[in-house]
Amino acid sequence: MAKTALKPIIITIDGWSSCGKSTLARQLAKKLGYIYIDSGAMYRAITLYFLRNHVDWTAPEEVHEALGDIELEFRFNEKAEKSEMFLNGENVEFVIRDLVVAEKVSEIAAIREVREFAVAQQRRMGKKKGIVMDGRDIGTVVFPKAELKIFMTADNAIRVERRFRELFDKNPNITIEEVKNNLEMRDYIDSNREVSPLRQAADARVLDNSSITAEEQLKVALGWVREAIG
Ligand code: DC
Repeated sequence: MAKTALKPIIITIDGWSSCGKSTLARQLAKKLGYIYIDSGAMYRAITLYFLRNHVDWTAPEEVHEALGDIELEFRFNEKAEKSEMFLNGENVEFVIRDLVVAEKVSEIAAIREVREFAVAQQRRMGKKKGIVMDGRDIGTVVFPKAELKIFMTADNAIRVERRFRELFDKNPNITIEEVKNNLEMRDYIDSNREVSPLRQAADARVLDNSSITAEEQLKVALGWVREAIG
């Protein structure tokens, strides 16, 4: 498919932790010449700020004040061919992937004011369309009218293994058990929270990538893009 698709659309990709959402989102953005936005990176950056600044996130007024001091921005890294998360001008793309952040991010992403803060920015980023955004509530809450919604799943064991390999490269002391517990905990909190829980939108296309390659999943998704563009 040509990089200049006729009419730019919004593509949302939601699903469980570590089921390959960002890989597909990146593939699609590159193929279509779209902007890829990793909404999880925003919640991770907010979590990093709260941890570093010892914000008591159970106190609404502390959360409110801290959010007023947070500026999030995605900047495109030409060399790495991807957008990176900047928190108050600092590149935090690497550090937000740490297990220390992963252990707290679901708790913080469940706070209503945190979500309102992030969702308002996400909607602004989608104003001109031509974006692929992945997360948990993108097709249900952020862009309920998106032209193409994808919901991704994969077998639990495969997800644990993928995340373990990613994290092991950075931290060889990490264990499979730690990764498994973290994924299970995040899935539980993300799908059971009161505000915008992880849900499959009624009009989402389901993509299970447990046993297909990255090339195959791209092919399936591009077929849906063609249909959505019409
Ligand atoms: O996609 P990720 O694993 O980087 O996301 C980190 C956490 O942020 C995840 O556990 C849940 C939360 N999240 C969310 O609540 N809503 C989104 N749209 C994206 C992420």
